[in-house]
Amino acid sequence: MSKVMINTQRKKGKISKYIYGQFAEHLGRCIYEGLYVGNDPDIPNTNGMRNDVIAALKELDIPVLRWPGGCFADDYHWRDGIGPKENRPYMVNTNWGGVVENNHFGTHEFFELCRQLGCEAYVNANVGSGTVQEMRDWVEYMTFDGDSPLANERRANGDDEPFKLSFLGIGNENWGCGGNMRPEYYSDLYRRFSTFIRSKQKIYKIGCGANSDDTQWTETVMKNAGKFMDGISWHNYTFEDGWDNRGDSIVFDADGWYNNMADVVLMQKRLRDQIAVMDSTDPDGKVDLIVDEWGNWFEVMAGTNPGFLYQQNTMRDAVAGMLILHMFHNANRRVKMANIAQMVNVLQSMVLTEGERMTVTPTYYLFKMMKGHQDAELLDASYDAKSIDTKRGAIPKLSLSASEKNGAVTITIANTSLTDDEELEIELDKAFASVAAEYLTSGNMCDVNTFDEPDKIRPQALNAELSGSTVKVTVPKMSIAAITLK
Ligand code: AHR
Repeated sequence: MSKVMINTQRKKGKISKYIYGQFAEHLGRCIYEGLYVGNDPDIPNTNGMRNDVIAALKELDIPVLRWPGGCFADDYHWRDGIGPKENRPYMVNTNWGGVVENNHFGTHEFFELCRQLGCEAYVNANVGSGTVQEMRDWVEYMTFDGDSPLANERRANGDDEPFKLSFLGIGNENWGCGGNMRPEYYSDLYRRFSTFIRSKQKIYKIGCGANSDDTQWTETVMKNAGKFMDGISWHNYTFEDGWDNRGDSIVFDADGWYNNMADVVLMQKRLRDQIAVMDSTDPDGKVDLIVDEWGNWFEVMAGTNPGFLYQQNTMRDAVAGMLILHMFHNANRRVKMANIAQMVNVLQSMVLTEGERMTVTPTYYLFKMMKGHQDAELLDASYDAKSIDTKRGAIPKLSLSASEKNGAVTITIANTSLTDDEELEIELDKAFASVAAEYLTSGNMCDVNTFDEPDKIRPQALNAELSGSTVKVTVPKMSIAAITLK
């Protein structure tokens, strides 16, 4: 039996709801088929968005959605995606499989998707192959409420009212697919582009940050352009054993499980390094860290287009995902948004589709079970995380995070062990009247939800005994759990 102490009087900052953000790129079957089916008579849809996928995603209370990329963003020209569909030019999606993109999903469709999901919009502008004028015109097209040629063009294309543009990214991975730039050069471009984001709307500006362990990019960009930013991005994907040994999403053994958890531990170190650079370059904490791409990246499913990044999703993804989200909670001083990659059919997805069929993944349930943390106050929690030795170093056996919102306490717990359940006695500093608990696990670590068996992995009620201020619960091996106290 392990003891956990949670003190509701000791608040440790707000967990921004935007940490539970999503990302949808023109990549593989994320946008087309996954979210948008146009007039396909075989898939029920509303204004082109498929009803089954939207209904499932709405359950997650998605706060923000990033679009159109990713690498695609720096190849995207927004004018190609407005006006009558039959007039929209085709382009080749050179980043992702060289497939032909018909631009039927563009600006108006993106904001319609956000409207249906009830989320805010995070648009990523093109710096790599775009111009300042192109970006400033897009901002005017989206946000101007007066009488201007661009605003009137938007009206002619069906939307009288300006769209609400909450977040704007200035380029993506400009150290790589977004132009192979040096940080000094990007910093100057950032300064120039961001100057021309002029709108009556308050648009939160996000600069392109570094990849995984690169602190030099962050330091240079922060020093040269940080004062013009609201947030700077950071991308970190997790693998089994680095990029060159990513592993398979469904064929793995115990080492494959634990190595992936060890990659999460490495990510923790890298996050600390990023925050240390920000603390030294921005001691007043004016610039937020925006982790706008994260998640498990494995080899594509056998027989699928390598450029489509389609992978399946197991309990390993849900457990690793909870460790990462807890990491963001603990870094809430700097981390104000995160966007898992990606929402549908790409990398660590919430939803998978195959034609008119769909299923949700263990990662979907992870996000659903953690909803109570959105915009809640993080609480002080002390416990012995224990440790498990792996081939890539020690990992915690347990990860726990507690928060409070409107009098309700949410506690989420991951048990990374493949062999041992964990009995917990959770002691709070005040009594509660009711407890509800659920957990997610499966018989085999490689199990997945499929289109034929979509309910193989789904949350189940967890027995939790509440007596005053104490909760006793056993968190099964290889599981995630969520407890709500009122
Ligand atoms: O999410 C897939 C890709 O990973 C994104 O397009 C890019 O930004 C990153 O390298």
